Amino acid sequence: MAANWKMHKTAAETKEFFNSFLPGAAGEKNADIVIFPSFLSLPEAGKAVEGSEVAVGAQNMYFETSGAFTGEVSAEMIAETGAGYVLIGHSERRHIFGENGELLGVKVAKALDSGLVPVYCVGETLEERESGEAWAVVARHLAEAPALADPEQAPRVIVAYEPVWAIGTGKTATAADAQKMCAFIRAELTEKTNAATAERVRILYGGSVKPENTAEIMAEKDINGVLVGGAGLKPDSFLEIIRKGAEADGSL
Ligand code: PGA
Repeated sequence: MAANWKMHKTAAETKEFFNSFLPGAAGEKNADIVIFPSFLSLPEAGKAVEGSEVAVGAQNMYFETSGAFTGEVSAEMIAETGAGYVLIGHSERRHIFGENGELLGVKVAKALDSGLVPVYCVGETLEERESGEAWAVVARHLAEAPALADPEQAPRVIVAYEPVWAIGTGKTATAADAQKMCAFIRAELTEKTNAATAERVRILYGGSVKPENTAEIMAEKDINGVLVGGAGLKPDSFLEIIRKGAEADGSL
């Protein structure tokens, strides 16, 4: 159960969030919880979750360890804050910042090398869905991360299916549509590795997830979790999503 805070919350606001979130999260033993704050709030978040079951992650990283890469942050720097996860290829990175598939594949490999769990985001735009290209686009995104074709590495990657048209729009894919694409992702991973390996890869759905639609989405067989944006900014709504998800998880 993952919350991507995007460019929200200062370090002080991060501290405040964890003060009210952690007591509620402590009872949720059946869920792996990870929160993705901004880089500048990561050290605060890392400190806050110490000794708890909640994990934190970065929203992006660069694939080099150090060097003349102005404005970038390395996996090593991220890991030092106590973060264990990193989002790679969120649609806002792909579409606003122009990150391409080749770069993202290298980032996934570097995250794995550095001991971070990459949450690799895939998904089609509205135009691509309407022209019937959604499947081909998602297949291409999967192919661009060679780690997903390696039976050793694939289970260490989390794949998040986020149709771009459902992100921040209030328009959720129906649970059945989300399941269809997540089953397709699992089938692609089976083809690249084998059924047992593909079964171990956790697949998340993201795009306008809220407490009211979590149970329906989480009841689907190939959806192992959710990646939440807006509804993950408030402790109460994210806790409700976690509880509803744990109750409804059809993949357990
Ligand atoms: P949203 O964002 O839940 O606000 O639609 C999801 C995401 O971008 O990961």
